[in-house]
Amino acid sequence: MADIVIAIDGFSGTGKSSTAKKVASALGYKYIDSGAMYRCVALYFINHQIDFEEGKEVAEALDEILISFQFNNLLNTSEILLNNQIMDYQIRLPEVDEIVSQIAAQPLIRRAMVDRQQKLGLKKKMVMDGRDIGTVVFPDAALKIFMTADLQVRSKRRQKELEEQGIQVNIEEIKKNLAKRDDLDANRLDSPLIKAKDAITLDSSYLTLGDQVKKIVDIANKIIHEG
Ligand code: DC
Repeated sequence: MADIVIAIDGFSGTGKSSTAKKVASALGYKYIDSGAMYRCVALYFINHQIDFEEGKEVAEALDEILISFQFNNLLNTSEILLNNQIMDYQIRLPEVDEIVSQIAAQPLIRRAMVDRQQKLGLKKKMVMDGRDIGTVVFPDAALKIFMTADLQVRSKRRQKELEEQGIQVNIEEIKKNLAKRDDLDANRLDSPLIKAKDAITLDSSYLTLGDQVKKIVDIANKIIHEG
């Protein structure tokens, strides 16, 4: 039996996080949402009015940003903390959506986050989702999944998520924001979103969450038990 790292990458709104969370839970693995780390940085920068293009300010801010994870047994989920405060809806607000891709494109910020992510994965038994997990953070991950889904389907899902938090946003606005983020994530110079050569593509447009999770857990179990 082998302990492995599972890397799940893909476009915004493909259901990576929900899938990764359930895969981790089914395997008894830890789950790390790397996008939430960039979102914490974005929120910190917004709250402290830091210019993310100013190298010195960015470096100083990164020293002040403590990001940690804890498992909530009651909710059966992993929570992210920014300077010891649990972050939830705060990092999913439209104003964070608006700048997070630009934040995540800054090489200094990426280097700091990748370093933290690699340290978190040292003990393996981990599922991490993001954009560059299988290509940059864990290029040797035993299982890499690349998730895609139709833009319209992704926009509807995002709208539903926001509505559940009491936030009403027009579907065209969401589509525009997702398409813009896809473009920024896929075309940035530093670690763009690309499928790792050895990743398995999973199109989630017409799959239920349960189906997606089962597909990944089945493959993972094979690797864990049979190598
Ligand atoms: O997965 P998400 O939407 O919460 O990610 C937020 C932003 O962070 C998104 O614009 C892509 C970026 N990101 C990244 O560049 N690299 C990662 N490993 C994870 C997220």
